[in-house]
Amino acid sequence: MTIVWRDGMGIDGGMMDADHKCLIALVNEVDTVHPTLTLQRELQVIIAKLITYAQIHFEREERWQVGAAFLFAQAHRKHHIKFGHELEAISSFFREGRSLQQMVALQAHISKVLHVWIVDHIIKADGTMKPYADQIRRNAKGTAALAEAVRLSALRRESERSAAFGKLPPPPNDPHNGRER
Ligand SMILES: [Fe+2]
Ligand SMILES: [Fe+2]
Repeated sequence: MTIVWRDGMGIDGGMMDADHKCLIALVNEVDTVHPTLTLQRELQVIIAKLITYAQIHFEREERWQVGAAFLFAQAHRKHHIKFGHELEAISSFFREGRSLQQMVALQAHISKVLHVWIVDHIIKADGTMKPYADQIRRNAKGTAALAEAVRLSALRRESERSAAFGKLPPPPNDPHNGRER
């Protein structure tokens, strides 16, 4: 069942809500995949994306909470960690090939887990931040939209990898062997 955003789900009318809309859109995608032979691959891509997006959202939400002196920041962080583990458990189902019948059952399971999470976390737990909305909005000022933050994070990781690779000594079979000719 598609989750439709409604005003009561809003927290800050700003970046926090934009992040949550983005995550809800990803959750909704799970139900749109048709039961064909590509089901496993398509769900795997959605879950991988959701892991990345959720991780970046959690990091910044926790930062905004600390900046707003949110009383339940530590307990809230534990919710994030727990959900991260749930997503990792789901992604482990994709490590081996599954029959279409198994995948259809798994799709229903994933959909249920994610819908429960939207209600329990985004609506209920995140909803406790509403009294801190003004400060959170100030803390989030100038933050990039979630999709852009994910893109920048991937670019940063890539450049760090390249920099680390550049520092390595050349492989032994390199004809130049690291020396100028
Ligand atoms: Fe959140
Ligand atoms: Fe949260």
